[in-house]
Amino acid sequence: MFETQLTRALKIQYPIFQAPMAGGVSTPELVAAVSNAGGLGNLGGGYLTPEQLRSDIQEIRQQTDQPFGVNLFVPEQSEESEEAIFQMTDYLNKYRDELGTAQNPMILKSSESFEEQVQVLLEERVSIFSFTFGIPSQDMIQTIKQHGIFVIGTATTVDEAKQLEVGGVDAIVAQGSEAGGHRGTFLKDASHALIGTMAIVPQIVDHVSIPVIAAGGIMDGRGLAASLLLGADAVQMGTAFLACPESGAHETYKQKILSTNEDSTQITRAYSGKAARGIETKFMIDMHQYRGTIPAYPIQNAMTRDIRQAAAKANSPEYMSLWAGQGLRLANNQPAASIVKQTIDEASILVQRLPTIGTADNK
Ligand SMILES: Cc1cc2nc3c(=O)[nH]c(=O)nc-3n(C[C@H](O)[C@H](O)[C@H](O)COP(=O)(O)O)c2cc1C
Repeated sequence: MFETQLTRALKIQYPIFQAPMAGGVSTPELVAAVSNAGGLGNLGGGYLTPEQLRSDIQEIRQQTDQPFGVNLFVPEQSEESEEAIFQMTDYLNKYRDELGTAQNPMILKSSESFEEQVQVLLEERVSIFSFTFGIPSQDMIQTIKQHGIFVIGTATTVDEAKQLEVGGVDAIVAQGSEAGGHRGTFLKDASHALIGTMAIVPQIVDHVSIPVIAAGGIMDGRGLAASLLLGADAVQMGTAFLACPESGAHETYKQKILSTNEDSTQITRAYSGKAARGIETKFMIDMHQYRGTIPAYPIQNAMTRDIRQAAAKANSPEYMSLWAGQGLRLANNQPAASIVKQTIDEASILVQRLPTIGTADNK
């Protein structure tokens, strides 16, 4: 049941992707557990150095012989004036003071290079590659595909999906505004690309001829069944897996996921300079008062890194980035394999009941 063009192409049993979650959340254990359960585990490799990426891929392989995907961030060039950086450093010092960490730290340019990361995927013969935040050059996509790798892009509007299809991808993640984590928007300002999953999935399905994966607010079998009815070939679930034992999320973050409701998330640029949805924190609220310019991604991300790390060490969620989607109240801390199984079991029952929906039998 639930075999689609995409599950056949990827050689997976169920149309359930565990979302790649960079920053240590999608651990090799989580990826392998989902793939072993018949879904598609995805490693969020965006922040990993080439060496870390290779080692995580090898760790996944030790734990599963099933297909899995690796996700990277398409790099963006951002410049910021010295004044904006100086002002932000000064502003952030009050948190450093509170957390007992050094003032005016050196901001390290990230050491990961997209080309080197991609080279690792080619060398390691990863079979599925997904990306977000943009679109790699057509040459790079072709090189990756020539290595037999299935390529998946991320879109938040129909125009982005069409551009990805022209760029040569094999499938598209349609990311609705409910989604936790960073917005994949790359053609316009993220505030103009906040289309809900229910609305964006069928519109993208209508305008491209490749498989679409629905993402954003999908937490269980109801979300899976609904997405398939909207024309998706699979779902990508992030928040649903955040609190499970195999997830690498910090314990305090997991507790927040399990105790916070659907009305408690906001989209913010405060932590990274790029729009992302997370549980509202004091840091996010404070930043509304900031009168200067928030530096663009990835500069702001690098500038807040020491604060987020110190906050995690101190178990202080108000200064951590608690990325999460709007399906929060449906999250649980079951093992990843149970989440996959329950989602499939529930969707199977719903689909069998479909002929009776809207009739008196549908109780
Ligand atoms: C903690 C977290 C980290 C994420 N990191 C990534 C990432 O590295 N790459 C990516 O393509 N998407 C990332 N996402 C977005 C997911 O791919 C997906 O769009 C989202 O989780 C779907 O919404 P949901 O969280 O409501 O299930 C992340 C999401 C979360 C919650």
